[in-house]
Amino acid sequence: MEIIHSIETAQEICFNMKKKGAKIAFVPTMGALHHGHLSLIKKAKEYGDIVITSIFVNPTQFAPNEDFDAYPRNMNKDAALAEKAGCDMIFAPKQSEMYPTHFHTKISIGNITSKFEGAQRPTHFDGVALIVAKLFHAVTADYAIFGQKDYQQTLVIKQMVRDLNMPIKIIVSPTIREENGLAMSSRNEYLSLNNRKRASIIYRALLAGKMLIEKGECEAKNINSHIRQTLNQLPDIHIQYVATAYADNLEEPQRFLPGEHVVMLIAAYIGETRLIDNIIVAVPFPEGNSSFIAG
Ligand code: PAF
Repeated sequence: MEIIHSIETAQEICFNMKKKGAKIAFVPTMGALHHGHLSLIKKAKEYGDIVITSIFVNPTQFAPNEDFDAYPRNMNKDAALAEKAGCDMIFAPKQSEMYPTHFHTKISIGNITSKFEGAQRPTHFDGVALIVAKLFHAVTADYAIFGQKDYQQTLVIKQMVRDLNMPIKIIVSPTIREENGLAMSSRNEYLSLNNRKRASIIYRALLAGKMLIEKGECEAKNINSHIRQTLNQLPDIHIQYVATAYADNLEEPQRFLPGEHVVMLIAAYIGETRLIDNIIVAVPFPEGNSSFIAG
């Protein structure tokens, strides 16, 4: 497996591969690879003849008070894991090449970035969109695979790809969880062993919300308050947001209708560690109303 550091070399390799008819599937990451990333690499193999993984801790998506410096970095370990999962090439550009002096361009996706993660981290999605656009230009992939764990990010990227006519298909792959349900994340490394166990409350709260919806609850405020009650079983949890929204655009109606797809989203601090998670549920039709479904 090759590790490429230069944009020009990556473009040249990809151009030659595509000339031979190969399809390229791409997994963008910031490294600190875990089973979640490895599942994305395996998913990429279903789509591409060649799988490229990028490893780049992107400074523009971190606010000054965030963990850019502390973010875990271990290229050798990441390369070994990626190769074992089936990656053919790692693209690990230097920061000075991605953001040279006099770099000025910005990308702003608008509406969908204003709430939830965007409200808590106002510059985050502009940074994500910028780096993802640059990575897409470097590897010129046919498919890019993103994890559902960063659900709002997947919608932001899809919006950018649509708006800018980027010739790439975005695939969203399910969240991979630890045995206790905690969504895998590079930031889980910050959790103490005890907090790692306690953090499973986030998934349990989402499941509680799902059960409520499946029992027929359609009012967003009741679903959100049930999720909050479950989270608050952990006395020192600090909840940033709990939301229930349409899965395709993150709009928040007061009430959901049968057949609609709903995403429940949580961001919370356990100790010093900020965690996010989500699940999607289809609102059921009332029992005995199957003619309504068919119609
Ligand atoms: O999800 C991530 O790890 C990052 O936001 C991404 C997409 C690699 C951009 O830096």
